Amino acid sequence: MLILGLETSCDETSASVVQAHVMGEFVREVAYGYPGGEGNVSLQVRSNIIASQIELHRKTGGVVPEVAAREHVVKIFPVIDEALSEAKVTFEEIDAIAVTQRPGLISSLLVGTNAANVLALLGKKILIPVNHIEGHIYANWLDREDNIAFPVVILTVSGGHNELVLMREHASFESLGSTRDDAAGEAFDKIARLLGLPYPGGPEISKLAEKGDPTGYDLPRPLMNEGFDFSFSGLKSAVMRVVQAEGASLRQADLAASFQEAVCDVLSAKLLHAAREHGVKEVHLAGGVSANQRLRRLVEERLEGLTLRFPEKISYCTDNAAMIAAAGFFQWRADPQAYKKWKLVEASTRMGF
Ligand code: KG4
Ligand code: ZN
Repeated sequence: MLILGLETSCDETSASVVQAHVMGEFVREVAYGYPGGEGNVSLQVRSNIIASQIELHRKTGGVVPEVAAREHVVKIFPVIDEALSEAKVTFEEIDAIAVTQRPGLISSLLVGTNAANVLALLGKKILIPVNHIEGHIYANWLDREDNIAFPVVILTVSGGHNELVLMREHASFESLGSTRDDAAGEAFDKIARLLGLPYPGGPEISKLAEKGDPTGYDLPRPLMNEGFDFSFSGLKSAVMRVVQAEGASLRQADLAASFQEAVCDVLSAKLLHAAREHGVKEVHLAGGVSANQRLRRLVEERLEGLTLRFPEKISYCTDNAAMIAAAGFFQWRADPQAYKKWKLVEASTRMGF
């Protein structure tokens, strides 16, 4: 089965062709109405084109929704063409289109959903609306065989969301906790801006942190031992107070390292605490912040026999359409009948699952 994924929820225009194999077989014959065979699935990314708007948004230090949407309009069809040609497939060969429906910037989402609606209607393709957060979670199935042992606890963290999720089976998501204010990625971006570093801040902070001492400044660990919700606004304010108090004597690298350590300490502790409470054997990291090497290392250090997975490539951590195709495939496979008739996909900003 060949799935065309489309992602335009924020500032990346992305299209991807993902091929689903069941027991090594091409499963096209089961695409229309059957649950895709008995065997293990493996998802092969045939192409994953990402037109990044980072340079555009650097000028304003963040994403301006109208600017992002205009860029998606320009890029969406060229990106789809490129994804098909790199995968060496024609549009006619595509079996299903999976598109990000929510959450995200409404004007950005509309570009992707409109393109998907038109293409699926004209091409008579299966059309699957995908939740962006579920997409991030399914990045851990890309370029891998589906031998993941449920239940799994997943920490998915990006600029727009911060969720701890229990998955007991495919296409089933139970939120254990989420952020009460800023997502961790958003906090990275805001602190970077405060330190005069470019957007997006996560990679910049972690680069600077390599030269710093993570114990250089004493920063709080918000809600550390209080359930599975997160809060990063107090930490952000504490960093601001350090910047004001230190003035010219501020040790920037130490502050970056101490901030990163505080965020990763809280994230990893809650992930492993949730894993133990639910008796799972496997934990996953997903979303833009899962690219952070310190976070990966801290989780590794605390695993005590559990298995850790994070996406195969950094490009599968941040926004991309391959993860949307993967989530769409498993969503369809769980209930193929639900997608037999073409139904308009309506963009929405609703958060959660
Ligand atoms: O998943 P994503 O591309 O977009 C959203 O859905 O929001 O995540 C982007 C976020 C940004 O906030 C960025 O600063 C953060 O992920 N990020 C990182 C790293 N790479 C990206 N944060 C910390 N360390 C990184 N290495
Ligand atoms: Zn995202």
